[in-house]
Amino acid sequence: NQSRVGALFDLYAGVTRSFHYLLKETGTGKKALDYLYARGFSDDIIDTFQLGYAPQDPNWLYDFLKKKGYSSDFLAESGLFSRNDSRYPLFRNRLIIPIASTQGRVIAFGGRLLEGEGPKYLNSPETPIFRKSRTLFGLDKAVKAVRSSGRFFLCEGYMDVMALYQAGIPESLAPLGTSFTQDQANLLKRYADRGILLFDNDDAGQAAAAKSIVLCAKSGIETSIAAVAGGKDPADILEKEGGQALQKLLQYTINSLDYLVEKAMARFSAGTPEGKHRILSDLAPFIEAQDSAVKRDGYLGRLSDMLEVNVTALTADLSQKTTPSR
Ligand code: CTP
Ligand code: MN
Ligand code: MN
Ligand code: MN
Ligand code: MN
Repeated sequence: NQSRVGALFDLYAGVTRSFHYLLKETGTGKKALDYLYARGFSDDIIDTFQLGYAPQDPNWLYDFLKKKGYSSDFLAESGLFSRNDSRYPLFRNRLIIPIASTQGRVIAFGGRLLEGEGPKYLNSPETPIFRKSRTLFGLDKAVKAVRSSGRFFLCEGYMDVMALYQAGIPESLAPLGTSFTQDQANLLKRYADRGILLFDNDDAGQAAAAKSIVLCAKSGIETSIAAVAGGKDPADILEKEGGQALQKLLQYTINSLDYLVEKAMARFSAGTPEGKHRILSDLAPFIEAQDSAVKRDGYLGRLSDMLEVNVTALTADLSQKTTPSR
């Protein structure tokens, strides 16, 4: 099994190189390369992230790897081919985004649709070298800067991480097509205790941000929120306004308590006892996730001011856990 793991690392490293070559040096990859340029990405980023292109031809990958001496059985279990047809590649005519382990070894791919029908992204299945919930896109490149600054930037997508990196913010990470997990938060806590969240400026993004705030709090990570304004997500801002606009965005963050209260107040009326109770219930997971009584107390004090409810009542409701279902 040890040797199978080693062989998988070698396989993914080799395929990454080939996809990258196809993107940069061949006519087949040209439209994918132009796509990246049109989105404002530089050659530097394309090389740093070892972006690639998986060709349309369904025979190319299997033939290429067979010639290199890989067995059919090994390839069938490699995560590179379809579950139903073990010679049919998962990624065809897609931009390839290699996903690396913290140590920087490629362990999976994300593949973006360039044209035609189909899901916008495909991601490699889990294999002996790839555990989704424990991997964060960009961490290998971010880890040094995250360690030294004690903070990370969490965004939603591959393109966002690359956009931030290009804008001079290397501490940027994203989960992998699934939502952010407690395992990922715990992993990050090893390197940093502050996080800035830059989630998409849409309902899904804002809902994901609220969940991530609580997961981070449970891991002992303090978060603040950058409002992604002027575009849907950080990659849009890079494309439309350039890297400096992205940097500017990060100068205006709000703390997570204020962010959550503001969101809750937009949904429920802070002018009625029922509304106040709902707002408190909305905030309860965040407050309860705090590892510090001092922080809990401080947050309840601020909530008390904002809702005009005394702290004793807030505390009593919290301890009752009267959380209405939503
Ligand atoms: N995602 C996925 N499968 C999809 C859609 C999204 O795995 N069908 C994941 C990808 O990791 C993607 C992230 O969720 O990067 C965020 O999704 P979304 O905001 O829709 O995509 P963007 O990252 O903004 O992609 P792009 O800018 O290329 O349109
Ligand atoms: Mn290169
Ligand atoms: Mn989104
Ligand atoms: Mn997005
Ligand atoms: Mn986007």
